[in-house]
This record gives sequence, structure tokens and C-alpha cells, in this order.
Amino acid sequence: MKYQTIALIIACSLSTAVIASAPREKSYSLQFDAKNYKIEELDINGQSLKVRAYTNIVYVKHPVDTKYEVMNIYIPDAYFNHQQINGFDATNAPIFFPNEVGGYMPAEPATLVGRKMGGRNPTEQNKVAGISSTPSTAAYALYQGYVVASAGARGRTATTGKAPAAIVDLKAAVRYLKYNDKNMPGDANKIISNGTSAGGAMSALLGATGDAKDYMPYLKKLGAANTSDRIFAVSAYCPITNLDHADMAYEWQLNGIHDYKKINISMLDYKVERKETAGVLSQEQIRVSNDLKAQFPNYVNQLSLVSPQKQPLHLTQDGSGTFKDLIKQYLIKSAQTAIDQGQDLSQYTWIKKDGQHVTDLNYDDYLVYLQRMKTPPAFDALDISSGENQEFGTEKIDKQHFTTYGFQHSTAQGTLADPKIIKMMNPMPYIGQKNVHTSEYWRIRHGAYDKDTSLAIPVILATKLQNTGSNVDFALPWGKPHSGDYDLAELFAWINKISR
Ligand code: DHB
Repeated sequence: MKYQTIALIIACSLSTAVIASAPREKSYSLQFDAKNYKIEELDINGQSLKVRAYTNIVYVKHPVDTKYEVMNIYIPDAYFNHQQINGFDATNAPIFFPNEVGGYMPAEPATLVGRKMGGRNPTEQNKVAGISSTPSTAAYALYQGYVVASAGARGRTATTGKAPAAIVDLKAAVRYLKYNDKNMPGDANKIISNGTSAGGAMSALLGATGDAKDYMPYLKKLGAANTSDRIFAVSAYCPITNLDHADMAYEWQLNGIHDYKKINISMLDYKVERKETAGVLSQEQIRVSNDLKAQFPNYVNQLSLVSPQKQPLHLTQDGSGTFKDLIKQYLIKSAQTAIDQGQDLSQYTWIKKDGQHVTDLNYDDYLVYLQRMKTPPAFDALDISSGENQEFGTEKIDKQHFTTYGFQHSTAQGTLADPKIIKMMNPMPYIGQKNVHTSEYWRIRHGAYDKDTSLAIPVILATKLQNTGSNVDFALPWGKPHSGDYDLAELFAWINKISR
């Protein structure tokens, strides 16, 4: 008896050793298996919905990490019975593609259950602390008649998850959906990506870089389906994007604000509770802020952007100009929308009104209300301590710089990331380029009370997209901090409109 037990243990450890030593040799099928599902019965507000759940599908032939390179696909059962939901059917239902990326960390695919409460929960519906079994955005999306596909992605804490791993993974998952379009309900020509913060950045990158060839060697190596990775539409909440210009943008906006409430770097992920530490910028930090602020006008001016009213957007060296005026206009519009929706903004005496009509806003007072959250440089930390530094590491080097300024002023002898990889993490250089398929439809939201990145970052992204012919729904919702999925009814109305 005793011998048998030992033999069994040896046999087990041998077999795991074999698997562990050759994980990349195993090849996964890219064929969607319509028969391999579990039925989930959803019930939201007394309305039931029967869903087929296909979970943990490895979406590439040669995964590096099967914890994260997996996708959950949820399909209304009605679509297997020739029925319609919300006017959609198996042939034309949009595919909603939400990611759970936060803080550039590894992310598992979304499920039908909302995220556990840590403090900053994204959906209005999930606000009651302590309840972990509330429906997720994915569950709500199914009631709209969308097919939901959510892919996990590698992230910065693994040696194999550094940039551009996360975006390569999400592209590979899109390719899986296109490859299986004929075998699966839903229309893979109508993939709509959704994400918040670093996940919003991923969503924007997906939309900006469809079929860009820079990513091909990485996709090939993973054994991604040999098809397209372009997507139809992008929903991005507070995208922490354009990282190589985000430091200068932050200081352009907040240069005069020296008090800060910093958040522990390891807790930057929008999903977890944020512990703030108050402080005041040192003389050295103010010098860094001044340096970075001075770099921003040149960056904006060389983009040659024009406003929706066709006015050229630029900044003078002191940081004023039509680009700044445009940001103010978006803030005025945000305040007006809030008032029109019945919010009382009378406590903000720096909002000038004529009756209920917002006529102007004192931008400097707005900044005092907003406050500073990050110390300069906000992203490429001189001591390479930020999450973004880790994102730009390599298999051998955990953390690196990704701006010339950070590299030149490094206090940690940090190395500089490969410029080709820095480019692959930024949607800006791809938008409107030949042989790249940028999404037609974009919905970008960045809360007017969000100081995780400068307002300039989403404004530059939205404007570049408008200028190159995309259809952009952009707003800075009043009072919203760094968060997402807070207006699902509006998001779904937008998806319904563009999908028909
Ligand atoms: C996130 C927030 C940040 O402030 C940042 O720098 C990176 C990521 C996030 O919430 O995903």
C-alpha cells in the first residue's frame, strides 16, 4: 500500500515535470468549439437571461502564459434558437470586447460577476461595498443582445509580460474571433472594445493599430490566427496612454500646483483602494516640472491638430494658446451638461453662469479644485519606481525609462526602452497611417475630476482621431474621478446606434 502511494506521487511529479519543461511545444487549437459550454442563468432586476458560457479558451496556438492568454465568450442562448434580442440576431449581433487590464498589471478575462469591492468599483450598480456577486458590465451587455468576448492579457509583473505583451495578446484574441466568425454567433466585423485606465489605453491601442505590421512578429511567435486584428469601435475610459508625452502634459497642466496627494505606486490600478499621502513638491521637483512643462508646446505644435471648429491648435512657449482654449471649452461643456442634467454646481464659484447657461470658467481655480496627484515626472520616474517603468522592462531588466528626459536625468542608472516598443504602446503614431486600419467609431471619456493623467492626453487623442476622419464621441464628464463603466446606459445606446 505504502509503495503504491509513493509510486503515484513520483508518477505525478514526473508528468508535471514533463509538462513544465516543454510548455511551448504544446499547440492549442484555434477552432471555436460551439459544443463546449456551460449554461448560465442571469437574473438582473427580475429579468432572466440564458447564456452559453465558453470559458478559459486559449486564444493562441503557442501561449506563453495560459493563466492570462485565455478568453471568456458569452453568447445569449436565444441566438442558437433563431431568436432575436434588442433587434440583433446570431448573424449581426455586435461583439462587445471588454478587458480587465488595470495598472498595466496582468489581467484575467472578465466574468459575469462584477469585480470584488476594493474601494473604487467601476459600475454604478456595484457601488454597495461588500457585495461581490453583482453583475459585471459583461452581464449587462448580454441583455443588450451583444455577444461578449473578454480576453485576459499578460502584464508588467511577469518577465514575459512586459510591453508590448498586453496589446499583442488582445490583438491575438481579436484574431481568434475573426478566424471563428463563421462558427460563432455575433459579427466579428463589429467588435467593440472597452477598457478603463491602462485598460482604456489598451482599448485605444487596439482601435488605433488595426493590422499594423509592427506587431506581426510577436503575433506570429504566439501562433495567433492568421487574419485581421482591426476592430470596429473603441470605448475608452480615462486611457492612461501616450506615456512618452504624458509627463510633459502633466506638468503643462499642473506646473503651478505644488501640493499633492500621491498614491502608492503599487496601488495605481483603478480597481483597488487608493491610499493617499499628502506632500509638497521639493525645489528639485519644481525644477523638473518646469523642464517638462517647457517641452510640451513643441510637442503639441508639431502635431498640427485642428479643433472641431477647424481652428489650428497650438501653444506658445508659456503654455497658453488655442489648444488650452479647447480644453477649457470641453470643461465648460462638461459643466453645462451636468447642470442640464440637474446637478447643482453652485458651490464652484469659478464657473461663470448667465442663468443656467455656463459662459466661462476660471481655469486656474479649476486646477486648484482638481489638485495634483503625481509628482514630476508623473510616469517615467527618475528612480524607475513607477508601474510604467516596469511595463517598459524586458525579460532581463525589470524596469526602464521610456522618455529621453527620464533617461538623461535617471537617479538609478536606468536604461532606455527600445524606441520601437515605446512606439507600439502609443496609439498616436499609428492613427491615420497607411496600411493601418484605425477604428471608425470612438467613445472616449475622461472624468473632469481625474488627475491620473493630464486632460491634454485624451484631448490630443480625440482630436487626432477627428482630424483623420474617425467618428469621435468625446466628453469630460463633470466630477468623475479616475474610473470607468459609470454610464453603461449611454455607452450601450452609443453601441446600439453605431451597430445598426
Ligand atoms: C492606472 C492608473 C495610473 O495612474 C497609471 O499611471 C497607470 C495605470 C490604472 O488605473 O490602470
